[in-house]
Amino acid sequence: MNNLHASGKQIVTRSEADIVRASGDDLEGIVALQAANQPACGGMLSACLPRFRIMEMMREMPLIVAHRGDRVAGFLMTGTRAMNADVPIIRAMLTAYPGTADAYVFGPICVSVEERGNGLAQAMFSELRRLVPAREGILFIRRDNPASLRAHEKMGMREVAGFVFDEIDFAVQSYFG
Ligand SMILES: CC(C)(COP(=O)(O)OP(=O)(O)OC[C@H]1O[C@@H](n2cnc3c(N)ncnc32)[C@H](O)[C@@H]1OP(=O)(O)O)[C@@H](O)C(=O)NCCC(=O)NCCS
Repeated sequence: MNNLHASGKQIVTRSEADIVRASGDDLEGIVALQAANQPACGGMLSACLPRFRIMEMMREMPLIVAHRGDRVAGFLMTGTRAMNADVPIIRAMLTAYPGTADAYVFGPICVSVEERGNGLAQAMFSELRRLVPAREGILFIRRDNPASLRAHEKMGMREVAGFVFDEIDFAVQSYFG
C-alpha cells in the first residue's frame, strides 16, 4: 500500500521503505546493489554503469531509490536520449523503436533480492511518473527475465518492438507517464 507523506514523499507502508529521488549520498549504495546484480553474480542486469555515469544520470533526470533505513534497497535509473547516444544496446533499442522526440530511456531498475515481491519496483515507478509526467519512457527487457517482464506488465507497459543484441533476445516496452 502506498501513501503520500505530508512532505510529498512517497511511502510504501507495507515494507516501510521510503521512495525518494536519489542524491549523491546514495551513490555507494546504488553501486553496491548494481554490482550484486551483475551476470557474474547470477544477476540479470545488462549494464554496469561507472560512478561518474550514475552521477550524470542523477543530474539530468530523476534517479529513484528505495531506502530501507540507511540502505539502498532498490533503484530506478532514467536517462536522456542524448546521454545514451554512445551506448550500443540503447542504440539497438532505439533503432527497433524510436519513440517520440522527447522520450527518455527507462532503466535499469533493480531491487535487492531480499526485498523482491513487495511492490518496490511499482512504488519507484509511481514516484518517477509523479516527477516526470506526460513523457514517453522506453526500455528493454531480456525475454528470459520473467520477473522483470511481470513487474513491467504490472506497471502497465506495452511491448512495442524486439531486438537481438549479443545473441540475446530483448523486448522493447514503452509507456506514457
Ligand atoms: C525486476 C525487479 C526490479 C522487480 O522488482 P520487485 O520489487 O520484486 O517487483 P514487484 O514486487 O513490483 O513485482 C514483481 C512481480 O513479478 C513476479 N515474479 C517474481 N519472480 C518471478 C518469476 N521468476 N517469474 C514470474 N514472475 C515473477 C512477482 O510475483 C510479482 O508479480 P505479482 O505481484 O503478480 O505476484 C526485480 O526482480 C529485480 O531487481 N531483478 C533483478 C534485476 C533485473 O532483472 N532488473 C530488470 C532489468 S530489465
